[in-house]
Amino acid sequence: MLEEIDSRVQRLLRQVNRSTLAQLDSTYQVATKSNYNDLVTSIDRQNERTLNQGLREVDPAARILSEEGIGDDEVLNLAGHVWIVDPLDGTLNFVKQHDNFGIMLALYIDGRPTLGYIMDSVNNDLYHGGNHWGVFKNEERLVPPVDTTLRQSLIAVSSALILRNVANLPAVAQAASGLRMYGSAAKEMIGVLTGELGAYVSWLKPWDLAAGRVLAEELGLSVKSIDGDGINVLSSNLVLVATNGVARDILTRTE
Ligand code: IPD
Ligand code: CA
Ligand code: CA
Repeated sequence: MLEEIDSRVQRLLRQVNRSTLAQLDSTYQVATKSNYNDLVTSIDRQNERTLNQGLREVDPAARILSEEGIGDDEVLNLAGHVWIVDPLDGTLNFVKQHDNFGIMLALYIDGRPTLGYIMDSVNNDLYHGGNHWGVFKNEERLVPPVDTTLRQSLIAVSSALILRNVANLPAVAQAASGLRMYGSAAKEMIGVLTGELGAYVSWLKPWDLAAGRVLAEELGLSVKSIDGDGINVLSSNLVLVATNGVARDILTRTE
């Protein structure tokens, strides 16, 4: 049954990605949300409608938590099947760069991180897996990244955390091989999954975290909160996703 859900969800995501790319150069509406650099476009909303409608056909009893509020009103627990949806991640990049954005979906079953999907939109690469099946880039199985040290790694930290000097992160970045900021949790999660980055640190909402957490844990990577609380995928978390060695190096510096 999960296999059937999985293949239909992959088809749905590829369809939504095709329609997203087809509209990149079209005229779409852009509005601000919490502040001037927090954007939502008509394509975010259209994607969310299509994804949620598709998920309801594929998995009718599930509840849906989605960023732009077209899902179920209140998802306050993870009982049963819960889909968590980011219909367009990196919207600011989408608008300003026409690049470096993605789409993310995850299925949690009774709280268990079960299936994750991250679409690297412009490259049309779908990272997917979980449920002890492994993690795949399209059809190709990913090998878990080689463990390394902070000193040997590029790391991504969200710009807001560096600018506000949260949790000693500027010093952590100084100790790394280099600091990168892609502006898309989807792209940064992919960076850690493929070993391009040793770590990603950001303040993440449920839809920014849900899929990357499934895929990272499936590869044996570390997914931890760095503010002392455990990970709760239904609320915002200050999250570190990293190889185990880099996670150890970072956590000794953020304490
Ligand atoms: C944002 C991006 C960004 C991250 C923000 C997210 P959105 O997602 O992933 O990199 O730093 O926290 O909100 O709003 O473009 O879906
Ligand atoms: Ca989004
Ligand atoms: Ca997002």
